[in-house]
Amino acid sequence: MIPVSFDRPFVRTNVGDGEKARQALIDAKLLDTECKIAKDEDWLYFPLTKKKTEKGLKKILGKIKYEVGKREFTPVFMGPKTLSEALVGLIPSDLLELLPRAYDLVGDIAVIEIPDELTDYARQIGAALKTVHKNFNTVLGKRGPISGTTRVRQYDILAGQNKTKTIHTEYNLRIAVDVAKAYFSPRLLEEHNRIADLATDGELVIDMFTGVGPFALHIARRHRVKVYAVDINPDAIDLLQESLELNRFAGEVIPILGDTHEYIQSGFDGDVDRVIMNHPAGAFEFVGDACKALKPEGVMHYYEFMGGEDPEGSLTEKITGLVNESGREVARIETIRRVRDSAPYEYQMVADVVIQ
Ligand SMILES: C[S@@+](CC[C@H](N)C(=O)[O-])C[C@H]1O[C@@H](n2cnc3c(N)ncnc32)[C@H](O)[C@@H]1O
Repeated sequence: MIPVSFDRPFVRTNVGDGEKARQALIDAKLLDTECKIAKDEDWLYFPLTKKKTEKGLKKILGKIKYEVGKREFTPVFMGPKTLSEALVGLIPSDLLELLPRAYDLVGDIAVIEIPDELTDYARQIGAALKTVHKNFNTVLGKRGPISGTTRVRQYDILAGQNKTKTIHTEYNLRIAVDVAKAYFSPRLLEEHNRIADLATDGELVIDMFTGVGPFALHIARRHRVKVYAVDINPDAIDLLQESLELNRFAGEVIPILGDTHEYIQSGFDGDVDRVIMNHPAGAFEFVGDACKALKPEGVMHYYEFMGGEDPEGSLTEKITGLVNESGREVARIETIRRVRDSAPYEYQMVADVVIQ
């Protein structure tokens, strides 16, 4: 049975000297790390592994003022450290090795993928994940793949609060997200940041498939720009509107609910500096629209899933062909890179393409 409190000799110091004292006691291997350091008013109480003589303590603590005594301390509860440890005895031992090794964190929601062999134990796994990690309030299990025009998937609530909506923070930007209603991936954090760094004051930008708006929001927060943020999913646009209330911006985001093809073809007359085409499963159908909107020397950030031996070469060939078909030319490709793994031997790729 786990004891509820421990009697220990202690050293107490002023809070101001606490960090120095803690370090000195650790160095002398005298701090009992199985107990929590206690505090009352201005004092910090350090539990000791054994009683030390006055002379011994003076040597360890040097000029730090301290007092000694004995009191009860609360033990540090040593819970399971890994998901596997937490589930020993709850799921068959031969299945432990199939447990997910990672989860995505979206705001205070953890999202995990449960392998088929473990679906009967999904709720135990969710509860165990919450015991091991304390930094979220809900555990969702992915149900099926991302699909359809709006690129969403379904989820099972496995543990914690019954919700799919949260506020996610990226580089201090607060983004309203509902994972069951609109696409959002925390794995694109660095890509959102990279594109926002490339934009400059004065630009006109179209984020053609904005989702809940991470690219548009990051860009407008940092630069005096105008960003048209288009998405066909009404829930995505509602969430983007919410994020506009949650942050301060240097520039402007104009949320537009609709089909980006219709929007650009029906009288959109902006000569835009930059288009963002993060819809890797479908962006190829909209390259003509992007070329219509872009001014000469404008930049297209084109995303696509690519596999094979040479995904960079395949993407270069594909985007060059699509741009030519729409009557424009590729001046140069400034960057081509693998953004993330999207499937075994397949990547979400991006090409930053300057269009003549
Ligand atoms: C992969 S998500 C990307 C969302 C966002 N760019 C991001 O990085 O989080 C693709 C988005 O394109 C939107 N979409 C699909 N077809 C569209 C269309 N014809 N017009 C506008 N948006 C569209 C979907 O609703 C979805 O939100």
